[in-house]
Order: sequence, then C-alpha cells, then structure tokens
Amino acid sequence: MSATSPNGTSTYHDRSITPPQWRPLSDAANSPDTNPPMRPINWNAITDAKDLEVWLRLTSNFWLPEKVPLSNDLPVWRTLPEAEKDLTIRVFTGLTLLDTVQASVGEISQIPDARTEHEQAVYANIAFMQAVHARSYSSVFSTMCSTPEITAAYEWAVANPKLQARADAVMGHYAGTDPLKRKVASTLLSSLLLYAGFYLPLHFSARGVMMNTADMIRLILRDKAVHGYYSGYKFQRGLDAHPERVAEMEDFTFTFIDELLRLEFDYTDELYDGFNLIRGVRSFVYYNANKALMNLGYPAIYEEQAADVEPDIIAALTPDSSETHDFFSGSGSAYVIGRAEATENSDWEF
Ligand SMILES: [Fe+2]
Repeated sequence: MSATSPNGTSTYHDRSITPPQWRPLSDAANSPDTNPPMRPINWNAITDAKDLEVWLRLTSNFWLPEKVPLSNDLPVWRTLPEAEKDLTIRVFTGLTLLDTVQASVGEISQIPDARTEHEQAVYANIAFMQAVHARSYSSVFSTMCSTPEITAAYEWAVANPKLQARADAVMGHYAGTDPLKRKVASTLLSSLLLYAGFYLPLHFSARGVMMNTADMIRLILRDKAVHGYYSGYKFQRGLDAHPERVAEMEDFTFTFIDELLRLEFDYTDELYDGFNLIRGVRSFVYYNANKALMNLGYPAIYEEQAADVEPDIIAALTPDSSETHDFFSGSGSAYVIGRAEATENSDWEF
C-alpha cells in the first residue's frame, strides 16, 4: 500500500529521503547538486502502522544472553559424548556466522530501501538484536568450552566451503542493486537458513539435555519469527508498488529457496554425518521453509516434505503448549527482564 499525498501522487519511494541518501557534495560522481533537507523521524506521524507494531514487539521481546543461566547446563555438558560436544560447537559456530552476516550486512542493507523512516529504525533495532544473537553463542562457548576448542571451531567455520556457500548466497543479494531481492534473501535467512542448526538444541531439549541453552535458543527463535515476518511483510508492500514484477519475483523466490534448501542440506549432511538425525533435520528445515514462503506471501509448497517433523521438536519450540511459534504468539519463553531502579549519585562512588 503506498501513501498518497494531497495532490494525488504516490509518495512511495524505493529509496527513502532520509540520511541513507545523503551524499557529500564534493563527490561529483554520486552527488546531486544539493542534498534534500534531512527529516527527523517522527513517531507521532506513522505511515505504516506495522512499523510501530513491530517496533513495540521487538522492544518488549528484548533480552540479553547474560541473563540466561547457561552455566546450569555445565553438569550435563560434561556428560555428553565428545562427538556430540563437537557437533554442538560446530552448529553454534555456523549459527554465529549467519547472525554475524545478518547483523553487520543483511539488516543494514535494507535501510536505504526503506519505505518509511520508521522502517529504517526497525532495521536498526533488528540489526542490534542480530548482533546480540551472534554474541549469545559465544556465551555458550565461554561457559562450556576451552579456548583451544573455541579457536578450532572458528577455524572450521572459516574453512568450511559448505557453511560459507550459504552465507555467500544471501550476501550476493545484500550487495546487489535490487531492494525486493534483498528482502527475499533476508526473509529466507531469518526464516529458513538457520533452522538446521536450531534443530540440535531443540532435539537436546526434547530429551531434557542443555535446557538453559534451549531457553536461550527459544528467545532467538522468538526474535527470528518477528524478523522474518517483517522483511516478508515489507517485501509484499514493495511488490504491491511494482505489480509488473509479480511473476518475476515469484519465479525468483521459488528458484532461490530451492537453491538455499540444496545448500542447507549439503551443509547438514556433512555436519550431522553419523548422528542419525538427518531425516528430522530435513523435515524441520522444510517446515520452516513453508513459514518463510508464507512470510513472503506465497503458498507453503513443502507440506509433504515437512510432514515428518517430529512432534517433540515442535513441542520443544513451544514449551507452553498454549503458545504457537509465530509473530503474534507473544512471549514464547520464560525470560523476564529485570526490574530497573533509578541510579543515585552514591551508585557512582566506587
Ligand atoms: Fe538472529
């Protein structure tokens, strides 16, 4: 839906008029004769009610890994077979890579395409939260692992072509020139690409293993549901403004999701080799591929492949069975943010 100005012309813009479009006037190649005046964001004049709704959801979902008592998982961690520990560390290093890409590039890359200034602020908020996610896995490492184990896992991630290929596939669109393709890439990363990794802590959780780590993963999943929903929603609004691209973008999305699924399974087959979990992982990835498609406004086409997703994995997603794992489900985890009190001068006397 485009906003319409009093003279009847559409105020929709692929490129917003606020700071991302500012160019140094000395930059002859890129610069207009003058920059438009910069407009301060006005949260009292909302163009798209979804921006405020999502902002409020994001801020009410805010959490930090420092508040999750991960060390309570240490006794169980020490009893895990070495192979399961190695798998866990690799899974979390892979998740760290994708959240790093999303925090530093994926969310930020959508800011210049924003339709409203509020949308820009929402991506800034999401980018920060992606950085929190990327940091949260490091909290698991620092709690459970030795420095040499952590170093080895990061070397593995950097040297693993299958892991890198998944990040490369989305980076190509983040660095590209097409705002709609960027949104599809971002939605598919948040709603599909990480789920082969999330499967493992949910599988553990369903067996009563690493329960605090699973609580943290549920907080990440709760955020991801909003992130994927929002990029998908903005993709649909962008497509509304470009009806001539409907067929092209549908074709692009289905081709791209097929490519990402292939890359995801390439990676998964190697990662989970020897663990007898591949079938469950694949079903779970397809289950989330359907959610990604729905976020983008397309029909879920992987019902058959997702049919085998294990009930205990779905239950692990939703510890309270009255809740469902989606954007509108409210708080999906037991995390409660601490109560704050105002600081006094005496607090600063050390
Ligand atoms: Fe994330």
